[in-house]
Amino acid sequence: MKRFSCLTALALASTCALAAAPGIKDAAAYDVSKLPDDPYGRLVRYGKELTEKTPAHLGPEAKNAKLRYAANNLACASCHQAAGTKSFAIPWVGAHATFPQYRAREDAVSTLQERVNGCMERSMNGKPLPLDSQEMKAFMAYMHFLSRDVPVGARVEGQGLPAFAPPARRADVQAGAQVYAGKCASCHGADGAGVRAGKAGDGQGYLFPALWGPDSFNNGAGMNRLLTAAAFIRSNMPLGTTHASPQLSDEEAYDVAAYVLSQPRPVKAGLDKDFPARWNKPVDAAFGPYVDGAPAEQHKYGPFQPLTENMKKLRPTAAK
Ligand code: HEC
Ligand code: HEC
Repeated sequence: MKRFSCLTALALASTCALAAAPGIKDAAAYDVSKLPDDPYGRLVRYGKELTEKTPAHLGPEAKNAKLRYAANNLACASCHQAAGTKSFAIPWVGAHATFPQYRAREDAVSTLQERVNGCMERSMNGKPLPLDSQEMKAFMAYMHFLSRDVPVGARVEGQGLPAFAPPARRADVQAGAQVYAGKCASCHGADGAGVRAGKAGDGQGYLFPALWGPDSFNNGAGMNRLLTAAAFIRSNMPLGTTHASPQLSDEEAYDVAAYVLSQPRPVKAGLDKDFPARWNKPVDAAFGPYVDGAPAEQHKYGPFQPLTENMKKLRPTAAK
């Protein structure tokens, strides 16, 4: 469809310079086994291995104790599904083309390495990887490989998460518990602890990852924001769901995300330093301080529309 309109534009003797955003290709396009056995090919393959088998290499049970930078047994691919190649599951295809980039969380321009470490410290509840480590280089090489056909600065169709328009009400944790029992607990467990792939201690991580409790993402993670979690869940869960064929309504995704995020998880220190430009803080950031005077509960569970409206008013003045 996109290609067709581009061809049409060519037929009209127009240039194709403003071509539509590139899309994510079929899995074969990202097959690392076809790369030669040379230094680049080996590093890309190691990057993919780290993405899928993160606990074996970087987790708390990793054989090489010096590399235990992550403090939980999730894999990057627990969220960046299909090793970072699934549309609307925060894919890495094109990530190399969109960094360096301004990030509100730091109120500064961040590199792709710093973004990886954002997930290391939050999603993985761990420590940042040294920038000159082989592991950081491997992540960069793999993301570079996934982005190789994407022009610098272009945004890929399906990158990130789709926008989520929340219902105009507070999320209903009790209703979310019902959705969870019916559609999630069979894999992630009634206690949210997931199902290990092997045995605890063997570094094999999860068959079905932990959604809460001590071995999941911490409260500073992007997934701990209600609108982020709802968007992820709506387009990707239960397993097998795609953005084109969601299995939950917006209402169900909103409530079940609230239920998951109402449960205990590791706490990150120093979160008050996040989003130093307070007026630029997302309305669903689950921790203070907030500049708008609304209660913390509302920032966690909504309703979000009044907060969004209020932030718009605050922005120009608070930014001065
Ligand atoms: C618990 C889920 C989760 C896990 C596990 C996770 N991430 Fe993320 N990651 C996210 C979310 C959510 C975002 C987007 C957050 C936002 O910006 O709102 C993200 C964003 C990113 C981005 C930026 C993508 C872009 O297009 O801007 C990179 C790069 C990244 N993660 C790398 C990693 C790496 C490397 C690992 C493993 C070491 C990892 N992540 C593990 C949830 C996760
Ligand atoms: C059939 C099994 C299955 C069902 C049912 C299921 N999930 Fe998942 N879920 C997975 C797997 C497996 C992953 C890891 C990603 C992957 O392998 O593609 C995952 C990942 C996740 C993640 C990100 C990783 C993490 O640890 O936080 C969240 C959040 C999540 N699921 C929420 C849900 C919710 C909410 C439901 C119910 C609406 C649900 N899942 C239903 C299997 C399932």
